[in-house]
Amino acid sequence: MSIHISARKGEIAKVVLQPGDPLRAKYIAENFLEHAKLVNQTRGIFYYTGLYKGKEITVGASGMGFPSIGIYSFELFTEYEVDTIIRIGTCGAYTTDLKVFDILNVEQAASESTYAKYAWGIEEEIISHQGKIFGIINETAEEMSLAAKATNIHSSDIFYRKDPAVPAIATQYNCPAVEMEAFGLFANAQHLGKNAATILTVSDIIPTHENISADQREKALKPMIELALESAIK
Ligand code: HPA
Repeated sequence: MSIHISARKGEIAKVVLQPGDPLRAKYIAENFLEHAKLVNQTRGIFYYTGLYKGKEITVGASGMGFPSIGIYSFELFTEYEVDTIIRIGTCGAYTTDLKVFDILNVEQAASESTYAKYAWGIEEEIISHQGKIFGIINETAEEMSLAAKATNIHSSDIFYRKDPAVPAIATQYNCPAVEMEAFGLFANAQHLGKNAATILTVSDIIPTHENISADQREKALKPMIELALESAIK
């Protein structure tokens, strides 16, 4: 057990897929894993461990934002000896160059957040994916004939804001999309010397307000889930 996860040691696999939403973790466990066992439900943050093509995988939620993914990813890396976390999430596009359903493999996450600085003394406002898993995801996408665009993204603390303009940091670092967790995950992994990647599906186009409807979401996220699972077992 760790402070926020009640799984016993040994009940979490070395590779964890981490969606933001606990119900998405449940959906993945029930539809993609064999012999999935619920190993944590503290605070409704479900973690399941099961088999994908015979290999042990854990899928469990991060919650939203840096404080939440900061807690869960740190405890997974340090208390459960997890080697690799693949975040699988959704993002908003700042530009109509991206389309809903596009899949992104995050190269670097830029943020105005002070999380990395105050947690680990990391002064940079842009942090790379960590370790080999990003490259494995690129190779796996190619093998699956799936377009997964390697790109920088903006990781933000803010979902609702007064000014509709694209934030300066996103322009500065060529970030066509925004989400709220990758920077915190990459900071933890960098500090701890672990592997971390983030795969995102574009769920909304911010300038046009186009979005994937709630009933399209399950089907829409399937290619990203399969890409993450196939990469996780390599
Ligand atoms: N902003 C931040 N995070 C998101 C968004 C967004 O517009 N869409 C999906 N995740």
